[in-house]
Amino acid sequence: MFITFEGIDGSGKSTQIGLLAAHLRESGRQVAATFEPGDGSLGRELRPILLDLKNSGLCDRAELFLYLADRAQHVSEVIAPALRGGAVVLCDRFVDSTLAYQGYGRGLDLAMLRELNALAVAGTAPDLTLVLDLAPQVGLARAKARNLGAGAQDSEGRFEALALDFHNRVRGGYLELAKGEPERIRVVDAGRRPGEIFEDVRCLVDEKLGGAR
Ligand code: TMP
Repeated sequence: MFITFEGIDGSGKSTQIGLLAAHLRESGRQVAATFEPGDGSLGRELRPILLDLKNSGLCDRAELFLYLADRAQHVSEVIAPALRGGAVVLCDRFVDSTLAYQGYGRGLDLAMLRELNALAVAGTAPDLTLVLDLAPQVGLARAKARNLGAGAQDSEGRFEALALDFHNRVRGGYLELAKGEPERIRVVDAGRRPGEIFEDVRCLVDEKLGGAR
């Protein structure tokens, strides 16, 4: 079972993944929690390049290929082996981030992005995707507070610094994607307290896992 979490920056994905991982482990399941960009040997090198404000000059296509390179390696080194080993894999961002950010956000062609995503993942597709939906104003304020709390000198990474308009397009993109694939992509209202959000997350995941038995 491969479950991905999506949403704008600051939507609370990592909190929900932590809660869900604990819940699944308690119910006796093997869990692998991972993230993009940056988990795995190549990702560790690519993440700082992708997120550093000083790389604002990266052109859209170069940025895209870095995310795709990270994903291809991440699938072959981390995700596919964990799935083969029987784990429930929880991944913070995956193919839909590329469609939402590089497609709806940057304006790259969605059909082309789908083809490139398919090349990168080589058949490894999420069974369930939870979009944590939140107003970008709220998400960005949270992301900035988190960056400062983590000791960053600057409260903004390359993405947090982009205009609100960009993040609104990304949010709208996720909602469009969910409309197009209502079975796989479920939208969760992330404007609530973490415990309330988790109730919805847990129900959706238990429903999916129950069905998979
Ligand atoms: P995060 O790890 O804090 O979620 O930040 C990763 C940033 O990278 C986030 O702003 C979204 C962006 N991103 C893309 O633009 N395209 C992608 O394919 C992925 C995985 C992330």
